[in-house]
Amino acid sequence: MKLADNKATLSFSNGSPSVDLPVYHGNVGPDVVDIRKLYAQTGMFTYDPGFLSTASCQSAITYIDGDKGELLYRGYPIEQLATNCDFMETCHLLLYGNLPNAAGKTEFTKRVTQHTMVNEQMQFFLRGFRRDAHPMAIMTGLVGALSAFYHDSTDITNPEHRDISAIRLIAKMPTLVAMAYKYTVGQPYMYPKNELSYAGNFLHMMFATPCEPYVVNPVIERAMDRIFTLHADHEQNASTSTVRLCGSSGTNPFAAIAAGVACLWGPAHGGANEACLNMLEDIQRMGGISKVGEFMEKVKDKNSGVKLMGFGHRVYKNYDPRAKLMQETCKEVLGALGLENDPLFKLAMALEKIALEDDYFVQRKLYPNVDFYSGIVQRAIGIPVPLFTAIFALARTVGWIAQLNEMIGDPEYKIGRPRQLFTGSERRDVQPISQR
Ligand code: ACO
Repeated sequence: MKLADNKATLSFSNGSPSVDLPVYHGNVGPDVVDIRKLYAQTGMFTYDPGFLSTASCQSAITYIDGDKGELLYRGYPIEQLATNCDFMETCHLLLYGNLPNAAGKTEFTKRVTQHTMVNEQMQFFLRGFRRDAHPMAIMTGLVGALSAFYHDSTDITNPEHRDISAIRLIAKMPTLVAMAYKYTVGQPYMYPKNELSYAGNFLHMMFATPCEPYVVNPVIERAMDRIFTLHADHEQNASTSTVRLCGSSGTNPFAAIAAGVACLWGPAHGGANEACLNMLEDIQRMGGISKVGEFMEKVKDKNSGVKLMGFGHRVYKNYDPRAKLMQETCKEVLGALGLENDPLFKLAMALEKIALEDDYFVQRKLYPNVDFYSGIVQRAIGIPVPLFTAIFALARTVGWIAQLNEMIGDPEYKIGRPRQLFTGSERRDVQPISQR
């Protein structure tokens, strides 16, 4: 972060002295006004619920240009990463800042695959859950529980501990998600097969049974890998900020990632792909494409409380680049599985077309986000709808841990402690219970 030549001057209409605030440049993107000394200088806080104009940290990992519809991981466009690299290379890039060469990739993949198994005790945690538990409820519990198994890697001040926790989390998430799935359908857990790719191994643990051989379909494997890559990081979104805030107290990485999983669950965030598919199924039940117009009227009516799920984004005010790539994958998967005429896909295309031409959406710059198509792909692969968000969590784990490790390595990092504008009662005295 570079100090700019100019300063920001904050003046007050009541005659209080104005204050100069330093301005910093990043490498790209908006400058920031440094308000850290504002309270000491003026006795005032700033007010920005939802962080609409507040940078909570400096970061060198992911950059989004919402107006251009651009997403860069460590400077590389998501389109190039999704077409030229796989998820393991992307993980290496996010964690260490560079794309590995062939030997580096082999070495990194080997390190990850060495940690794919989870402690057998994990099965007993699962048994405590109802069979119909939501996979995100299970994942929140299981990820938090990992901290009870790896006492040798919970010291966040130790870079080696941070690195081994990162590898363990990336390696074990697919195993845990697949276990959560197998538990809910009552099938035996499948142990990881380390000769498979990261995505192939996940498909194996999800869909193989001990009864017969399971052969990974390369089109589905590629689609799964792309889903992981597209969801791997997204700068300071709600769950990543949760991980940073949780980790800022010095808690262990497994606990901080469990907090991220909990945050991701919400329908305004990771839960949107599940909500989007449920929405498409509802419209399909109501009559399909012929009901799209009626549904859109509800979406535009503020009193209806209905939103077009999979549309809109806090940062992208142009097409979400991940949505384009996911639409491509969607066509490829449906083609490979002979589902080109899938009614939900057709419905999604019809909704998208109408929304992109409708004034309501155009004026508000609402475009499809990645979740609009990722649900259709996952459903075609055979992944049950409630598991979608858990798969998002699996993919985002590398981003969370890279951001957490970046924060801990930042000399300016402090425990996160937002302020407030108090609107409650002023001091008052407690009355004896008989007089209340
Ligand atoms: N359907 C209908 N109207 C919408 C939608 C939508 N999906 N999204 C935003 N709007 C409207 C809002 O009502 C608001 O209208 P107004 O100005 O008339 O009041 C305007 O567009 C601006 O929207 P905000 O809610 O202020 O935008 P914000 O940045 O706070 O929210 C969010 C972004 C939460 C993603 C929102 O667009 C949304 O709820 N979308 C649906 C859920 C979804 O798909 N989430 C996935 C996000 S991507 C991810 O997590 C991977």
